[in-house]
Amino acid sequence: MRSRNQTWMLLSFLLLFLAPKTHFCTAADTISAGQSLIPNQTLISKDENFELGFFQPGTSPNSYIGIWYKKVSVENKTVVWVANRDTPLTDLASFELKLSEDGNLVLLNQLKVAVWSTNITSSAMNSSEVVLGDDGNLVLRNRVKPSDVFWQSFDHPTDTWLPGGNIRYDNRTKKAQLLTSWKNINDPGTGLYSLELDPTGDQYVISRNRTQRYWTSGPWNGRIFSGVPEMRSNYIYNFSYTKNENESYFTYSLYNASIVSRFVMDVSGQIKQSSWAANTKNWFLFWSQPRQQCDVYDFCGAFGMCDQNLPSCTCLDGFKPRTPKEWNITDYSGGCVRQTSLQCNTDEFSLLQNVKFPANQRSNQQSLAVPSASGADECKSACLNNCSCSAYAYSGGCSVWNGDLLSLQKTPDGDGSGIDLYLRLAASTGAKNKGTRTPAIVGAAAGIVAFLGLVFLVVWRWRIRQSVGTSKTVEGSLVAFTYRDLQNATKNFSEKLGGGGFGSVFKGTLPDTTVIAAKKLEALGQGEKQFRSEVSTIGTIQHVNLVRLRGFCSEGDKRLLVYDYMPNGSLDHHMFNQQASKMLNWKVRYQIALGTARGLTYLHEKCRDCIIHCDIKPENILLDADFCPKVADFGLAKLIGREFSRVLTTMRGTRGYLAPEWISGVAITAKADVYSYGMMLFEIISGRRNSEHSEDEMVKFFPTWAARKISEDEEVLALLDYRLEGTADVEELTRACRVACWCIQDDESHRPTMGQVVQILEGVMEVNPPPIPRTLQVLVENEGNIHFFSETTSNRSSQTRSTSSASSQTKSNISLTSSKT
Ligand SMILES: *[C@@H]1O[C@H](CO)[C@@H](O)[C@H](O)[C@H]1NC(C)=O
Ligand SMILES: *[C@@H]1O[C@H](CO)[C@@H](O)[C@H](O)[C@H]1NC(C)=O
Ligand SMILES: *[C@@H]1O[C@H](CO)[C@@H](O)[C@H](O)[C@H]1NC(C)=O
Ligand SMILES: *[C@@H]1O[C@H](CO)[C@@H](O)[C@H](O)[C@H]1NC(C)=O
Ligand SMILES: *[C@@H]1O[C@H](CO)[C@@H](O)[C@H](O)[C@H]1NC(C)=O
Ligand SMILES: *[C@@H]1O[C@H](CO)[C@@H](O)[C@H](O)[C@H]1NC(C)=O
Ligand SMILES: *[C@@H]1O[C@H](CO)[C@@H](O)[C@H](O)[C@H]1NC(C)=O
Ligand SMILES: *[C@@H]1O[C@H](CO)[C@@H](O)[C@H](O)[C@H]1NC(C)=O
Ligand SMILES: *[C@@H]1O[C@H](CO)[C@@H](O)[C@H](O)[C@H]1NC(C)=O
Ligand SMILES: *[C@@H]1O[C@H](CO)[C@@H](O)[C@H](O)[C@H]1NC(C)=O
Ligand SMILES: *[C@@H]1O[C@H](CO)[C@@H](O)[C@H](O)[C@H]1NC(C)=O
Repeated sequence: MRSRNQTWMLLSFLLLFLAPKTHFCTAADTISAGQSLIPNQTLISKDENFELGFFQPGTSPNSYIGIWYKKVSVENKTVVWVANRDTPLTDLASFELKLSEDGNLVLLNQLKVAVWSTNITSSAMNSSEVVLGDDGNLVLRNRVKPSDVFWQSFDHPTDTWLPGGNIRYDNRTKKAQLLTSWKNINDPGTGLYSLELDPTGDQYVISRNRTQRYWTSGPWNGRIFSGVPEMRSNYIYNFSYTKNENESYFTYSLYNASIVSRFVMDVSGQIKQSSWAANTKNWFLFWSQPRQQCDVYDFCGAFGMCDQNLPSCTCLDGFKPRTPKEWNITDYSGGCVRQTSLQCNTDEFSLLQNVKFPANQRSNQQSLAVPSASGADECKSACLNNCSCSAYAYSGGCSVWNGDLLSLQKTPDGDGSGIDLYLRLAASTGAKNKGTRTPAIVGAAAGIVAFLGLVFLVVWRWRIRQSVGTSKTVEGSLVAFTYRDLQNATKNFSEKLGGGGFGSVFKGTLPDTTVIAAKKLEALGQGEKQFRSEVSTIGTIQHVNLVRLRGFCSEGDKRLLVYDYMPNGSLDHHMFNQQASKMLNWKVRYQIALGTARGLTYLHEKCRDCIIHCDIKPENILLDADFCPKVADFGLAKLIGREFSRVLTTMRGTRGYLAPEWISGVAITAKADVYSYGMMLFEIISGRRNSEHSEDEMVKFFPTWAARKISEDEEVLALLDYRLEGTADVEELTRACRVACWCIQDDESHRPTMGQVVQILEGVMEVNPPPIPRTLQVLVENEGNIHFFSETTSNRSSQTRSTSSASSQTKSNISLTSSKT
């Protein structure tokens, strides 16, 4: 220890003498010949977008050279590139990043040995320099002729693909460039998951360990990747594709250069695109694939169980994490090992109920059919007799699994889509067994268990009775339920009504026969006190168009909200379900639109604090017995807090309702709800999902088409759900169409307030024909163009020519209404 300290002091001492001559004094973006960078110094790009220097990721003691954002994400360095990802510097000593005599950039450790180098041989390198660009690209180039680039970090990405960079396939060397995840959050080393362009050069694939592919973008069709239809409604990224005999690659840029956005091959095995949200000071994730964590191949490792909810992975009973330290930081790749090793012939089986293997990985990749086994017992023997068999399942036919069990997945509560799997365990671990060689003993044991179970049940029921009595009313009308109350009311959460990012909803009946909907919350980052205070705030909000909160439960880490049950379910069920027995007629739809607007107006304007709902969509509009609409899930944005944006965007279907400001990162106001409401109103009018695919090219993205029709003051009946066969009040329809189009304007100051929407729908206020929202307008213009979007300003004039009514609106002050006199 002492000798190490002495060495260090000696080195520091030496450094003091050496430093002033060769190191920087002030921030610069360039390293010139002979200069070097030491641990406390950084390189900063010209406009200070990026910074390069030494860093230690997470809790790691290791040091790396990397590039991170300088202006955003200041508290937490967001690293976009790492030079020596697999050769970390370990000792606290005089590391040095140096432009060496041969023109290469080299990283020297304390022994002055190169641990990383740009490693280029070129005769022109006698006059090189290194520059960190504002795009995050570190370039080694000819000082005399800067267009001569010898090496650049964009050609050697780690896990992040920045705008302007590309991920290519080189047809000459037959090598694909990889975007590879970090090993885990504390280790930027080359991880297991990588994204690459496949050798056809037309599609991206994600694979684990470069062998098991589990996601593909589908081929590029000139506009979008066929497996990524949501690219249609992309108005942020300008993708372009290059393919020739030497190479193929995609690159992307941002239409609005002030948006900070990055594309990452994440440690979760998912690709994620996120933008910096200045208001929340956090990365806002708005797209990821595969959408489900459990669809990542072998994410939980051998004998791990993947759960769509957090924590993602747990070891099966009888197993423990192979590497607890990594497991603890959500690196599950090590998988699980047996707590007790198998004895082969005396092993037993434990039942895993209702599990499944991911849809994108056929279970028979791992399992073998045993056609000769014609019953559950024979199937069991087939497995027991082969020591490498680790599980079997019998449902009609017999399947056995040999070796490690991978990608096992939990099915959601109450969802019977899984299989019953029998897992082999050593006898001593007390496998919960259905029948062994000694049926008599088991019979007796089962009898005892059954008896104890009965006793337990009686006691339990009694206790439930007791505890129902102890539920106490707090804060006005809210009831604090015990977990047991709710378990009992919902028959142990057996009847699932729906699920979402915040948790699943179950139907239940209270002892007084009131029917309730109990929502089990997930991803709550809050303590009990804060939860209770938020809940009591939500409890005070009552309006005929808002779902009423009856009570809550907060026990340990369990958090539930209890609402009135709505017999007619959610709006989406009635709108989009072709089989729905009752199709909603126009009158009912209009009342739903109006009622929803009233509910939102109450949230925005009438409550003590303005409540932004943040997640308006048909799934969150519930219908009571009389089809009176009730807005659900309000107040949850605040309750869920930080996690909210993550949940929101990983949820299927939500994306289409999000206002542009969610992505550009400006502060979210009540006008974000207005935007989502507008998107939903279009769906109420048309009876179809906005982003539904259609054969008819023109109707691909309904709001685009509708906005044009509306702004041209064309026949609005064409926009109406064809199933209504034109039976609608044309004046009401016109109002609804116009107001929907105003709601989805890009500029939030052009959108009406919810209060104004109510007045317009009530007919108290007139509404002018709306302009086409700019982002949608771009979409209309470029339909069929290879670049889905292009410069908006240059197109504006042609749009003005073609739609005269819209143009007069756009030019003269944009105004929503002219007062009715
Ligand atoms: C770097 O800076 C930290 C604090 O700013 C200081 O404690 C440390 O001694 C410095 N190291 C070197 C090598 O200058
Ligand atoms: C920084 O990152 C850590 C781990 O990801 C997180 O727990 C913490 O909240 C972050 N801090 C800020 C200020 O974002
Ligand atoms: C440079 O490249 C050569 C061969 O291409 C390789 O053997 C050597 O390890 C590389 N050096 C460094 C420091 O990366
Ligand atoms: C670098 O080398 C080239 C030829 O290899 C030579 O023409 C040029 O003068 C050299 N430049 C410097 C700065 O030494
Ligand atoms: C990755 O693949 C290599 C062989 O291609 C194999 O040796 C290694 O064990 C694999 N690693 C994991 C974690 O599966
Ligand atoms: C890739 O190179 C091969 C020869 O190695 C050539 O036959 C093929 O046409 C090239 N691919 C493209 C897309 O040009
Ligand atoms: C492909 O590479 C060859 C040799 O490097 C070059 O002559 C040719 O121009 C390249 N083709 C394209 C389209 O860049
Ligand atoms: C896992 O992390 C928790 C805190 O986050 C810590 O208390 C525990 O000791 C860790 N376990 C291991 C095995 O590292
Ligand atoms: C057990 O199963 C493995 C994998 O299918 C097979 O290779 C092996 O031959 C089997 N052993 C016996 C004894 O049947
Ligand atoms: C670009 O984004 C910034 C910040 O998000 C925003 O203020 C600005 O209005 C946007 N510009 C355009 C042309 O949309
Ligand atoms: C989109 O990207 C292409 C290729 O990089 C570029 O030529 C074009 O100007 C870009 N369009 C816009 C609107 O930025």
